[in-house]
Amino acid sequence: MLLEDQLPRIRKLIREKIGILPKNTIHNDDLMRNSFKRLYQALPRMIRMAINENIFVEFCMANRERLLNISEKVSEKYSEAEDKSKNIYQEKNSEESELNTNNLPNTSELLETASRVFVPTYSPNLILSRGLGARVWDKDENEYIDLGSGISVNSSGHIDKELLAVLTEQAGKLWHTTNLYLTEPSIRLAEELVKATFADRVFFCNSGAEANEAAIKIARKFSSLNNSTEKREILTFEGSFHGRTLTTISATAQPKYQQGFEPLTEGFRYCPFNDFKAAEKMIGPQTCAVLIEPIQGEGGVNPTESGFLHHLRELCDHHQALLIFDEIQCGMGRTGKLFCYQWEKSPDSEQQADAPKNENNKPLNITESKLMPDILTMAKALGGGLPLGAMLCTEEVAQSFKPGDHGTTFGGNPLVTAVAEASLRKINSPELMQQVQKKGTFIRKKLDLLNHELSVFETIRGRGLMLGAVLTKAWKGKAASIVKACQEYGVLVLTAGPDVLRLLPPLNILDEELETGLNRIGKALKNLHEIELSSTTQK
Ligand SMILES: Cc1ncc(COP(=O)(O)O)c(C=O)c1O
Repeated sequence: MLLEDQLPRIRKLIREKIGILPKNTIHNDDLMRNSFKRLYQALPRMIRMAINENIFVEFCMANRERLLNISEKVSEKYSEAEDKSKNIYQEKNSEESELNTNNLPNTSELLETASRVFVPTYSPNLILSRGLGARVWDKDENEYIDLGSGISVNSSGHIDKELLAVLTEQAGKLWHTTNLYLTEPSIRLAEELVKATFADRVFFCNSGAEANEAAIKIARKFSSLNNSTEKREILTFEGSFHGRTLTTISATAQPKYQQGFEPLTEGFRYCPFNDFKAAEKMIGPQTCAVLIEPIQGEGGVNPTESGFLHHLRELCDHHQALLIFDEIQCGMGRTGKLFCYQWEKSPDSEQQADAPKNENNKPLNITESKLMPDILTMAKALGGGLPLGAMLCTEEVAQSFKPGDHGTTFGGNPLVTAVAEASLRKINSPELMQQVQKKGTFIRKKLDLLNHELSVFETIRGRGLMLGAVLTKAWKGKAASIVKACQEYGVLVLTAGPDVLRLLPPLNILDEELETGLNRIGKALKNLHEIELSSTTQK
């Protein structure tokens, strides 16, 4: 494809996606290059298949005077976030540094204060002050590539310009009403979720634990309306994680989250994960529901084996139990489909990535797989960075709750649901889902290369952009040290237990940012490797 012939089309796209630029920005090479990179990611797939990103970006850079609409005025659409965030930050920072001379606390003083004033549930050592896309900066302006997305929350990166615009608009209208009144954003979001999924109805709350709490309550209520008192047991799986409230730690089949908090909520039974036979034995007339993460997140990025979810569906149908999928971490496009369970019985992700796609922009839907849950829980990425959880269910299940049975003060407030609606639209796009799979494959390849040199990973688990690198014997128990070393090299990654390094990058991370982040992981691992070697030779 000759780009010169495409000039009018590219100009039109720029008008739609970037808008009119302020005059002075055209000479800012970094800013322009980043804007063209973002534009490339938003191009129709057909164009991206025909031209590679570098060629496109360099063509736009060389022709920017012809391509861009320049104005003295700043367009609302322009991704000014980049300039603005920097300027605001610099202004504030210079004010702060003036004030600093008047004794405002520096990083180490703030860390010291934090260690005194917070209940010691966490042990962080970093104070982040601003973010943009897949990058964040600490208080001292050190840059990090964020490959953790706030544990699968910031799927569109930090300060996405569309989400920021929606947030700003809604912030000028109405923030909170309680559920005694309706608001338009929450109605629209619930309708979008119903259209895009198996569900007929939605209950909004504020977090993952609350979404699971709602799911557990409605499953028990459904059973109490339809069955004898004997049928109240909920089956969950070893290695699972469902939240930190007393009931959700009772559902979480990992003793480390439960110890010291007994007595736990009764009525949960734990089944070995991916054990077809054990599930068959343990699901019976006493079971009112089965709760499972299609990929266990906190438990070590453990995917369900092919066929296991279907097996559970059949067992649930046979015993009139409800099937609940906890997609709080693995849902919202994280694995390359809107929901992770939709991979069940569909082709392998890599084959899927290359398969021809229908370009009619229909939302990804469940027709690819016949599997359906009765209830599904969401949170994390659902709010686009703001706190939002949701329990989605079928009409039959929903009718178990009547007014007064369950509730929340903040759940689904208009500020959060307005952003979530924009976020869902962005994420539920075939192009983005394909990118997720491609980027996941890219990460695996880079980690494999690193592994040839260092033999640090036993295997890479997961799907799309939810990946767990399992450490080899020599590195076992060192996931937290690796995370710390990565931080020193300017990249934020996560653990999933002591032996697994977890990567959950923003779904729209730029290729260049991803490559930089992975290179930094490589440097951190090489450095750790050398330290280990020198300490063993000294012994
Ligand atoms: C699968 C899963 N369920 C539930 C939760 C709890 O969510 P929250 O921390 O928002 O309460 C999490 C959090 O990590 C999770 O990964």
